Amino acid sequence: MNRIAVLTSGGDAPGMNAAIRAVVRTGLEAGLSVFGVSNGYAGLIDGSYHELTRRDVGGKMQLGGTMLGSARSLAFFEQAGRQQAIDELERSGIEALVVIGGNGSQTGSHALFEMGYPVVGIASTIDNDLLGSDVTIGVDTAINVALEAIDRLRVTAESHGRAFLVETMGRNCGYVALMAGIAGGAEVISIPEYEITPEEVASELHAAHQRGKRHAMVVVAEGAKYNAQALIAHFEANQQETGFSLRYSILGHVQRGAAPTGADRLLGSRLGAGAVQALVRGERGVLVGLHGSTVGTTPLADIVGRQKAVDRDLLNLARIMSI
Ligand code: F6P
Repeated sequence: MNRIAVLTSGGDAPGMNAAIRAVVRTGLEAGLSVFGVSNGYAGLIDGSYHELTRRDVGGKMQLGGTMLGSARSLAFFEQAGRQQAIDELERSGIEALVVIGGNGSQTGSHALFEMGYPVVGIASTIDNDLLGSDVTIGVDTAINVALEAIDRLRVTAESHGRAFLVETMGRNCGYVALMAGIAGGAEVISIPEYEITPEEVASELHAAHQRGKRHAMVVVAEGAKYNAQALIAHFEANQQETGFSLRYSILGHVQRGAAPTGADRLLGSRLGAGAVQALVRGERGVLVGLHGSTVGTTPLADIVGRQKAVDRDLLNLARIMSI
């Protein structure tokens, strides 16, 4: 193996640049030429890649986003699009591909592998919904951004005796909401894996008010059936008594664009290096992730199309802490 390529796919995640840098520098150390693919699978289909040097990846690790660009490519969902991508790679003499991305992106990398192309994935998504890695690149930063917002909103909640509903990203996974909710001292947390009804939210808030709380925070995941807007609409339509004047705030993409935390820079560096080492060892069709405190691999076939389950102990911790 002489030439490999790396791409970032799906939603950008803080720490992706550290992973790209690590793939390039570990690859060069192993005597490989490393090519960066522009704009994810779309660039793979177009043959839009260029060789990267050590200097090309310098000064990027502290930046959020991805220096390679990312995209969600519809053409890649089709067998014909994937075949075109493989043809382009083979024409350029590129013998293996590293895919940095989350669930959808690794479904794509698995599809390429099934078509006979050598691929290794790196677990990267702010959602942390991917099996095969205890944590994924970007989730620590996203939690910290959500936490900063919660802390700030709490200042206003406290000053005005209000309750805030804060909605975090995470697609169908409640991990960011749960972790930010615990660390932010939320009174109520609602996530897709553990839905609570608007009536339950209202009664939890009311009970908190009765217990003497003068402000409150509800952290709700975007994927919950009742997101922040739906909860407010429900409370207004049903004159639900909570004891508080309510406001809501949807964090959205601000959680994705932050400078990566130290933890995400380290994780990106470790998983990037781990991906190249896995390729050099001859591993193919695997996801590189963090298993406990070590970097390990899991067959892509075992993780695609599945979602990490919520940790019941954390849910219980959130409940106990909120009282
Ligand atoms: O997968 C990352 C993520 O930020 C999700 O949390 C969110 O639901 C989705 O991407 C938003 O996608 P887009 O950036 O395409 O709007």
